[in-house]
Amino acid sequence: VLSDYGLSPEHGFLPAQLPLERLPDPYYNKWEAVVANLQGLILSKRLRGVIDRLPALSTAGLEHDSEWRRAYSLLCFMAHSYIWGGDSPSDRLPPSVTIPLLHISAYLEVPPVATYAAVCLWNFKPLFVDEHVDNLENLATLTTFTGSIDESWFYLVSVAIEARGAPILPLMLTAIQAARTGDSATVAACLRRFAERLDDLGTLLQRMHESCDPHVFYHRIRPFLAGSKNMGEAGLPNGVIYEDGTGIDYYRKYSGGSNAQSSIIQFFDIVLGIEHRATGEKKDDSSESELEGIAPPPKHNFLLEMRKYMPGPHRRFLEDVTTVANIREYVEAHRNNIELTSAYDACLAMLRVFRDKHISIVARYIIVKARESKSLSKSSEATRQRTNIATASQQGKNSTGKQENLRGTGGTSLLPFLKQARDETGEPTLNQW
Ligand code: HEM
Ligand code: ALA
Repeated sequence: VLSDYGLSPEHGFLPAQLPLERLPDPYYNKWEAVVANLQGLILSKRLRGVIDRLPALSTAGLEHDSEWRRAYSLLCFMAHSYIWGGDSPSDRLPPSVTIPLLHISAYLEVPPVATYAAVCLWNFKPLFVDEHVDNLENLATLTTFTGSIDESWFYLVSVAIEARGAPILPLMLTAIQAARTGDSATVAACLRRFAERLDDLGTLLQRMHESCDPHVFYHRIRPFLAGSKNMGEAGLPNGVIYEDGTGIDYYRKYSGGSNAQSSIIQFFDIVLGIEHRATGEKKDDSSESELEGIAPPPKHNFLLEMRKYMPGPHRRFLEDVTTVANIREYVEAHRNNIELTSAYDACLAMLRVFRDKHISIVARYIIVKARESKSLSKSSEATRQRTNIATASQQGKNSTGKQENLRGTGGTSLLPFLKQARDETGEPTLNQW
């Protein structure tokens, strides 16, 4: 059943066949050459000229899905480098990128932006092929915007989490099956192993601090991951025009790359019966307004929205798991079984701890850095006024943004969103009843 969705028990949402390091057909050498020289081209400000002069290559030479995935990843790195790799952001992408990118995105059922799939899932290689990829010491990235080890590490921590989390997929499908047949001992055993793995994943997440420096992340890496939605302050108020040669040009807006597009964490929520509401919505909000006969205002459920940024088969897997998820009801119905309820509660606690660790990362890598550059820009503004030197570079504008307007690359309001997601993780704790 897993393989129907392009998943595997060993690699989970990572492709069962390792990402290609190069497209085999020499016809695509031009793309490979641009990406191989990405940092040099960005640094010398020659990238846009080079991409503008590229022909719009056909996708006819792409055969195996791994080739389509490699092509997608290459074009996403080219597109975001084109948009964000100049003195000011470009609000148009040329046909040499958009024509093949739109085609490939449709085929892979992903949007034409640098998604989590483009930069993480389909952008790694093992250093030693005979060792597993769930070990950070065995991983390298294929492409980065900056060439920094910080950027590689940022992506690879996620890859390792995907790989280490992969066995949870078959494990919890077994638990669902066991709950159907009333086999409480198996359900409890699966939940215990799930909780242990979650603990492991939290440890991996913490390793972000080892080799990804917050300054490099915030000022150098993050600007490239930005999308075209909510990017007014960064200089893209309308979004980006994907010139596709048809002459019908319109602005498109997409969220930037975000780990919220990782299917594995959403799988955990689904299988544990954790529900995430639209940001700002309380548990009983909707029922109250229904009672009064007033339709609740449409609210934005970011995590559901992010499913559109996952590869089609992964999105369908999550939808299908939702229809069979029964663990929470099963545990509720067997509340007297202490072994079962405590195993379930351990999973909730571990997932909550995971989200807590993630919130501290966001504080250190984004909130603190934003605050620093805000006070820095204030003091440099004062210096500028005294000495009459223009200082505000585009990069500065990108990263300064007022504290209140701080947003994640995915477009959320950061802490309110993340804290709500964490608090909702704790809500169904069964032992409290
Ligand atoms: C969401 C930042 C690493 C998992 C988010 C969001 C931000 C953020 C700002 C809010 C959504 C948005 O607007 O983009 C960061 C930073 C990281 C980091 C600064 C490292 C420097 C990771 C890693 C994972 C992860 C390694 C592991 C899989 C998630 C998840 C969400 C999320 C699952 C969705 C919210 C939730 O389900 O609780 N992240 N992230 N993040 N991130 Fe991260
Ligand atoms: N979603 C992460 C951010 O907002 C990458 O920086």
